[in-house]
Amino acid sequence: MEKAPNIVVEPPGPKAMEIIKVDDEYLATSTKVAKIAIASAKGALIKDVDGNTYIDFSSGVSVMNVGHCHPRIVKAVQEQSAKMMHVAGTDYYYQVQSDLVERLCHLGPGDHPKKVFLSNSGTETIECAMKVARWHFPDRKQFIAFTGAFHGRTMGSLSLTASKTVHRERFFPLVPGVAHFPYPYCYRCPYHLEHPSCGLLCANIIKEHYFQNVLPPHDVAALFMEPIQGEGGYIVPPKGWHSAIAKIAKDEGILLVDDEVQAGMARTGKMWAIEHFGVVPDIVCTAKTLGSGIPIGATIFRKELDFGVKGAHSNTFGGNCVACASALATLDIIREEKLAEQAEMKGRLIRKRLEEMKEKYEIVGDVRGIGMMQAVEFVLDRKTKEPAVDLRNDVTSLCTKRGLVAIGCGRSGMRIIPPLVIEEEYLNAGLDVFEGCVRDAMRECR
Ligand SMILES: Cc1ncc(COP(=O)(O)O)c(C=O)c1O
Repeated sequence: MEKAPNIVVEPPGPKAMEIIKVDDEYLATSTKVAKIAIASAKGALIKDVDGNTYIDFSSGVSVMNVGHCHPRIVKAVQEQSAKMMHVAGTDYYYQVQSDLVERLCHLGPGDHPKKVFLSNSGTETIECAMKVARWHFPDRKQFIAFTGAFHGRTMGSLSLTASKTVHRERFFPLVPGVAHFPYPYCYRCPYHLEHPSCGLLCANIIKEHYFQNVLPPHDVAALFMEPIQGEGGYIVPPKGWHSAIAKIAKDEGILLVDDEVQAGMARTGKMWAIEHFGVVPDIVCTAKTLGSGIPIGATIFRKELDFGVKGAHSNTFGGNCVACASALATLDIIREEKLAEQAEMKGRLIRKRLEEMKEKYEIVGDVRGIGMMQAVEFVLDRKTKEPAVDLRNDVTSLCTKRGLVAIGCGRSGMRIIPPLVIEEEYLNAGLDVFEGCVRDAMRECR
């Protein structure tokens, strides 16, 4: 096995600095988290331009569940590119697109008939879901979403996103008519209650108070939720929350939209994260991993919600041939390499190590997640739970220096999301590096 991590020059090395300099000059500011200039990536390993090798604990932000440059993805993309790259799948017909939509309809949660709209990113799948809901309910103008949610950054999805004010600041007015309710973040319960004695107030308050006093439920077209909140901090709702929310929606005829963009595609040990909670949504949004690096998004909805009128919704690149070929290969790999089972098994290993770290290091306030969607939340004090934001940033920088690619979430959390195919040796090595960084960052801050 190749030695990893293997840091030969402290990153960013001289070649990385050349690229960073040009980016800084010409690339619009977005969300860069580490000064790593990547030359290539394979499986769970990433190599930078200065010859350093890193273990990937971020999966290209939840995209590379099947690992970087999986040979079957490379082959599917190469073969499809040589045959046909683009002819507008929204306007014409071809095999890879019809194969993909048929498969997605059969894969989507629930036994009901479904249809799919294909796009190019997570945010577009949400835009589509908003339009499906508006189209279906011309008289219902409101949406429900949750605080901490991340559904994307285009103007529609941004109206639902509420994970950090920096995402929204200076972009108002957004799409009007979104009511946000607190997500069940039990570690920091907004109502200062404890589960289960709370009686799931965070769900029931919607029906018992807001629907009575503020928000007429028959004005609400759709409720958007992440089954596990991703960018907001890898927050797993307590038992019963999803079904309570689903019932509230169903009782009022509100469409339930399940945003699986980050949590779906076997990451949690099941194809869809919502399957852990026994709820069947009306609309499912998936992107990120679906194309294993080739941009594609899919909004899968009940067949009867289809627009049914040409031109009501369409795009240029949705269902692009190469993206469809890559998505089909991704679905094959997930099934044939049993990635859900792998996620469950390796997720247990990750969780055990993180729990041990929580025992040892006071700064680890909480450990949470399902399958290989795990995270830790750093705090300055376990009693006050003051978020250790700088310390989390220090851990991230140390990880980079020591050859681990890892990203934060929430205010002071850190995701542990390697590709599902990561070899156990690299997984353990990565966790060793992570633990060393946590220990040293804690020492330095004391
Ligand atoms: C749950 C969720 N929904 C939607 C999005 C938006 O996806 P994209 O960045 O591809 O537009 C993200 C991105 O992180 C996400 O995590």
